[in-house]
Amino acid sequence: MSTIETERPQARYALGHSPEEYDRLRAQARVWEDATGRLLDRVGLVPSASCLDAGCGPGETMRLMAERAGPSGRVLGLDTDASLGAMALATLHDAGHHQCSFHAQDLTGGEPIPGEPFDLVYARLLLFHLPQRAAVLARLWDAVAPGGHLLVQDYDLRGITVLPALHSVGEVGRIITSVFDAVGADVHTGARLPQLFAQAGVGAPDGSDVAGRLEPLATGRVLLERTFRSVLPVALAYGITTSAGATELLALLDRDAARFADCPMGWPLLIGAWKRKEQS
Ligand SMILES: C[S@@+](CC[C@H](N)C(=O)[O-])C[C@H]1O[C@@H](n2cnc3c(N)ncnc32)[C@H](O)[C@@H]1O
Repeated sequence: MSTIETERPQARYALGHSPEEYDRLRAQARVWEDATGRLLDRVGLVPSASCLDAGCGPGETMRLMAERAGPSGRVLGLDTDASLGAMALATLHDAGHHQCSFHAQDLTGGEPIPGEPFDLVYARLLLFHLPQRAAVLARLWDAVAPGGHLLVQDYDLRGITVLPALHSVGEVGRIITSVFDAVGADVHTGARLPQLFAQAGVGAPDGSDVAGRLEPLATGRVLLERTFRSVLPVALAYGITTSAGATELLALLDRDAARFADCPMGWPLLIGAWKRKEQS
């Protein structure tokens, strides 16, 4: 196991900004590529469209947007993490997606979003992390052009299950959830999207979608363990676990994953909701 370092609790974004976390985000994005592509098609993302990916992270959804909007479209990725954004943009440009650009911005700040309004404003796994999620959602709705769409996908961590129930998986899930609770994230954001749309003044969604994934524990535990490692510095800083406790728990997870390798493990549910803005 790699060295576990503590971090001051001022880092409100619980997953951190390590190279390992960036790799985890890329791997996670590949898993949800079909579920996201399906909704981009559902809201009718067409050639020449203008798109915003709010909290774009490694830019995997920007690529899906660029493939659909084509060279005459435009795709802006926005994220607080300027170094991850720069990496995302280099990868997209290398792949020929020159209609993509990136802007470093904190969406809780209320500054204008460059290039607004957009035909599609999209956010995946962003609102989950933001205590000000309804205000940010209202800001994103403002950035939608008349006739355009707001599309959001977010997690409900209640989807994480294993049969039979195992203490190791439950405890890893409990620590991850406690960290998110401690920093003001909401682990049920996906299920709350219709309520959030109402609170943000968007109105009832035009549609919703629930995507899931089932894997044997032998492979499914990888996402769980990588997420645990990403939030561990914050867990230690908040006293949610100890370094020794974490090491012991990961060893137990290893043993369970070997012993119950074929047991089915469910990922968090990825829940989507969308709304079209009326033509003015
Ligand atoms: C879990 S990642 C999801 C990345 C990407 N949307 C995806 O699904 O692959 C959340 C992203 O939101 C960004 N983020 C967190 N707080 C933010 C804020 N206040 N404003 C803009 N981006 C933020 C993080 O830097 C991170 O890249």
